[in-house]
Amino acid sequence: MSVNRTELLKEKGEQMQNYNTIILSNQEVSPGYFRMRILAPGFGAKARSGQFLMFRVQHLLLPLLRRPFGIFRVGLLPPDCEGMPPKEYVEILYKVVGGGTRIMSELHHGDHVELLGPLGNGFTSGAVKKVKILVGGGIGLVPLYMLASELVTQSPVRLLMGGRTRDDILAVTEFERLGVETYVSTDDGSLGEEGMVTEALKRKLVRFPDAEVYACGPMPMLKAVRDICYKRGVSLQVSLEAHMACGVGACLGCVVKGAAHTEETPQYLCCCKAGPVFMAETLDWGKIDTDDKSCGGCA
Ligand SMILES: Cc1cc2nc3c(=O)[nH]c(=O)nc-3n(C[C@H](O)[C@H](O)[C@H](O)COP(=O)(O)OP(=O)(O)OC[C@H]3O[C@@H](n4cnc5c(N)ncnc54)[C@H](O)[C@@H]3O)c2cc1C
Ligand code: FES
Repeated sequence: MSVNRTELLKEKGEQMQNYNTIILSNQEVSPGYFRMRILAPGFGAKARSGQFLMFRVQHLLLPLLRRPFGIFRVGLLPPDCEGMPPKEYVEILYKVVGGGTRIMSELHHGDHVELLGPLGNGFTSGAVKKVKILVGGGIGLVPLYMLASELVTQSPVRLLMGGRTRDDILAVTEFERLGVETYVSTDDGSLGEEGMVTEALKRKLVRFPDAEVYACGPMPMLKAVRDICYKRGVSLQVSLEAHMACGVGACLGCVVKGAAHTEETPQYLCCCKAGPVFMAETLDWGKIDTDDKSCGGCA
């Protein structure tokens, strides 16, 4: 597979942009989870639910690579004073897992950062009026908020949110304020029902067998959600969090195997370009790696 980076950037150029910008706020919202608001004029008009951005701290050598983050929400700050235009921002929610996110967690209002985005394809909204079930595992909830805000205007929306403990359950009241019915489950029962979010999904699909499902979270959860939907013939869109280095289809570091993949006729799909959102039936689930591991070679 050969990829011309210049052509890819040109192709994406209409919607994506590099922003040299500043942080408006960066707060710890639950132990180890931060919510960062970043000034980004013009970003909101281009961004679709399910897309992502690549984040880098300006003037720091490490981490070398930008880090990918889902778009949680976009919005406008009130005007500073009469006649001044309102300021547009984008918000990300992130979990501290390594060197890059640790550096991010130490940033403050006014610090200079770089954003590249919006990137990727985003969700499609499905059939009007059909019940939509969104399944979020931990930080996988991020791309579902913008999606929910779009879907509630046309369909009843349910959010099934799962985490290991109560600390992993974020922003549920914000979904409720949109008019979304929410159900929480935690592995240790510290919030909501004790058990796996996939058990709640099975029950919901008994009640709403025609529902359309959207899911984002760890690979083992996505695989379980896919198996449940596949057995019942339910439409499923998944957002994958593959490891990404460039975010624009140039490095091929984020490929997954497509449903048509064979050794003789390989079908590789770039998560950053063909995804991160895929219709579940377009992926080869037998070959999807459900281990969370990185190559460890890049910073
Ligand atoms: C499209 C997309 C959207 C994402 N959205 C979010 C988001 O909204 N919020 C959020 O907190 N994170 C999100 N991630 C994951 C985030 O990019 C990584 O957590 C981050 O890059 C880790 O950087 P680090 O330097 O702190 O960790 P590293 O030092 O690079 O890695 C630390 C640990 O995290 C694991 N890790 C790194 N990247 C990933 C990944 N992509 N998927 C699974 N495990 C990973 C590594 O295997 C390693 O064990 C997203 C990833 C993708 C591809
Ligand atoms: S991250 Fe480089 S091709 Fe997808």
